[in-house]
This record gives sequence, C-alpha cells and structure tokens, in this order.
Amino acid sequence: MRTDAAPIGVFDSGVGGLTVLRALRGALPSADFIYLGDTARLPYGTKSAATVARYSSQCAAALRARGIGCLVVACNTASASALNELRREYPHMPVVGVIEPGAAAAVAASRARHIAVIGTEGTIAGGAYQQAIHRLDANVRVIARACSLFVAIAEEGWTEDPIAEAVAHRYLDGMFAGPQMPDTLVLGCTHFPLLATAIAAALPPAVRIVDSAATTAAAVAALLGAGPCTRGAGSVRWLATDGAARFARIGSRFLGEPLSAADVEIVDL
Ligand code: DGL
Repeated sequence: MRTDAAPIGVFDSGVGGLTVLRALRGALPSADFIYLGDTARLPYGTKSAATVARYSSQCAAALRARGIGCLVVACNTASASALNELRREYPHMPVVGVIEPGAAAAVAASRARHIAVIGTEGTIAGGAYQQAIHRLDANVRVIARACSLFVAIAEEGWTEDPIAEAVAHRYLDGMFAGPQMPDTLVLGCTHFPLLATAIAAALPPAVRIVDSAATTAAAVAALLGAGPCTRGAGSVRWLATDGAARFARIGSRFLGEPLSAADVEIVDL
C-alpha cells in the first residue's frame, strides 16, 4: 500500500457482500480493501432494524479502527437499517450503501415506470428501496417482496439447480402477471446475483434485472475519483467474526475466486 493510500472498508452480515467486493475490485483494481463478514451474527435479514443498526455500527467501528478512508455497506439489510446513522457517526468519511445506487439504476432502466424489488424480510419491510425510488421519481410504481429462501439456496450452492428456478417461479410469478406488470426487477440482496440465471429464466423476457452490487461499485468509483482510497496495491484483508473455514468455502463462490481459511482473521466486535 502506498503511504498516502487508505483502504476501503466493506462489511456485510457474512459472505454475501463478497458479490459487492468482487464488483468493487473490478471497478477499482488498485484500491486496497478490508472486508468484514459478521458471520457470528448472520443473518441480518430476519432481525429487527434496531439490532441490525447496532451490529452495523460495531462493524463500522472495527473497520474504522483499522484505518479505512471510505466505508461501503455491502449488505442491503444493513444499508436499509443503518446507513443514515453510519453517515451521522462518520461525517468526514464517505459512507456508501447499496440501496441508492440500485434505486437509481432501476429508475433509469424502467420505461414502464413500474419496478419490482426483491430482498430480505428486513430490507422489504423497512421500505428503503421503495423510498429511495420515490425520492428519485414519485410517480414510479413499486412492488416489493421478501424472498428469504434465495439466501439459503445461494449459500447451499444450488444456483444452477431446478430447485432455484422453481423457487424463483414461486416468488416472482405473482409479481409479473397481468398487462401492467413491472419491466424492471431490482436484486436487493447480496445473494441474489448468484441466482440471476434462475431468476431470469422465471421472468418474462423483456424484464430488465438491476444488480445492486454492480451499480454500487460504479457509484463508489465515481465518488472516489482518483482519491487516496483508489491508490493502493489491490490488496484485500479478510476479517470475519466466526468460522474461517466456512467463510472461505462458501465465500469463494460469492467472490468468484478461491479464498483460503488461513487468510481469514477472526475478530471480536
Ligand atoms: N447480506 C444480506 C442482505 O443483503 C443477506 C443475508 C442476511 O440476511 O444476512 O440483505
């Protein structure tokens, strides 16, 4: 790492945020990253907003103590519950969540001005995507559904399995029915990009899929420009709160490259 470079901190409830890290590394190949997966306390998606906000604040503090210059909240549920609080806690550091970039990409993509959002129970119940979309265009119609089973299917590795497509039909058929159906679907959960093929197969052909991992990476790259957070050596430091072996095994699939348990440092928050 160059002496004037500061790493970018990325946190998630577990391995899911590695889909966001993967996109970030593609967009910012020279940046150094510290990734923290709160594997001891996942899932966040079924917990109350207050609990997720408290956990998120602890994750951010652990990363800040390790010298980060920018924070990316890779977890959709944490972005939904904690982003405003984290921005208040760190007024001098850029704090980016996945919801605003995903909402902006969806509004730009939708010709019918009718958008469907899928995520965890916490993300959908809190209404963060719905609000972010309506801040950009109050006249867009938004429908949303929690698709909790997708999280387990992605972690199990059944992404190319007929079970994934069957579950996708079960969740999505009701959202994409009738003449006034949405023309855009936001994958509002870290795990869902892994299921993009099964999800696309269950959708009517013209529906556009917005992946909030990719849109967040583009937003972070635009925000940081050529600043100190982009001028490192392309390194990643891996932190988890439990289970280095499971983190490495399942995380490799989310990251798209092998991860070694020996490289994962277990930390207490
Ligand atoms: N990372 C979470 C999200 O994007 C999904 C997994 C969980 O529920 O913790 O909402």
